Amino acid sequence: MREYFLDKKIGVLMGGKSREREISLRSGNKVLESLQRQKFFAEALDPAEKGFIEKLQKFDIAFIALHGRYGEDGCIQGLLEILNIPYTGSGVLASALGMNKVASKRIFEACGIPTPKYWTFENGLEHGCEEVLRNCKMPVMAKATSEGSSIGVILVKEEKELTKVIEKLIFEFGDAFVEEFIDGKSVTVGILGWGDNITALSVLELVSQNEFYDYQAKYTQGMTEFIIPARLSKEIYAQTQITALKAHLALGCHGFSRVDIMVGQDGTPFVHDVNTIPGLTDLSDLPACAQAVGISYDELVLKMLSSSMAPRCTVRNTVI
Ligand SMILES: Nc1ncnc2c1ncn2[C@@H]1O[C@H](COP(=O)(O)OP(=O)(O)O)[C@@H](O)[C@H]1O
Ligand SMILES: [Mg+2]
Repeated sequence: MREYFLDKKIGVLMGGKSREREISLRSGNKVLESLQRQKFFAEALDPAEKGFIEKLQKFDIAFIALHGRYGEDGCIQGLLEILNIPYTGSGVLASALGMNKVASKRIFEACGIPTPKYWTFENGLEHGCEEVLRNCKMPVMAKATSEGSSIGVILVKEEKELTKVIEKLIFEFGDAFVEEFIDGKSVTVGILGWGDNITALSVLELVSQNEFYDYQAKYTQGMTEFIIPARLSKEIYAQTQITALKAHLALGCHGFSRVDIMVGQDGTPFVHDVNTIPGLTDLSDLPACAQAVGISYDELVLKMLSSSMAPRCTVRNTVI
């Protein structure tokens, strides 16, 4: 596969307009270094810069290292489809579904994949908050519907805070929902490959010094301990990997993803977040999940690059 890409111009898309711009620049620069180290022709491209579309058309392949809105939500994927430029990772629909946590959860429910209970506000804020308080013990997680990197994720401990927090999230991010708090282990599982050659990498357990794995804990060196493999029984470990794989396939993801799971006290793996463009910085989880099974950062990047050439097809011959 490597040879195929040697005479191709690869544009590493990084930066962009989302709130995760800084993280995307960190991810993108690491990817760029890796591609150049592997002797590929690669250059950085920032969709937030003027003349982006003209520049983009000079490339043969787009390696998308964007996170969040416009980059991870199907927008840039749609543009690349129209321009007929092959790109890494998931297509338009899976990207859009993965970015929207409520849409993802509805699919998980339909597919029998455990996900934390949740409440949305289609019937009004007051009614929704009443429902939460009647049916759920505090604390709860209030979340912006379509953000990443723990941006807009708030742990609500007091009943009287709930309405204010939701209002604030809606004001700031446009949409929000509430999820039951799962008292358990926060883990994440990298998925790599496609067709019948798809694998769940090692399960990584995240032990954060903060109350949960928030933005600060994610991106500050030393604030989160990575435990790999996660401290789960053999059965629950395997079940967590299978559930992650099912979540990836249920959304129709392609090539790679990282599935965030809270493993409850009874061992149930509750899927709460599928990341179609996982972070690729030094502190990121997917490179750590890959490293643990002997896949180096460069090998991971090459595999991700190769996903641009594989058909986005969910048909498989093997049963999970
Ligand atoms: N329902 C929940 N119960 C307990 N902790 C949670 C729950 N949902 C998320 N978390 C914690 O918050 C972190 C961020 O939430 P997540 O849904 O993954 O959002 P993001 O897209 O911002 O990463 C998770 O990695 C996990 O540690
Ligand atoms: Mg997450």
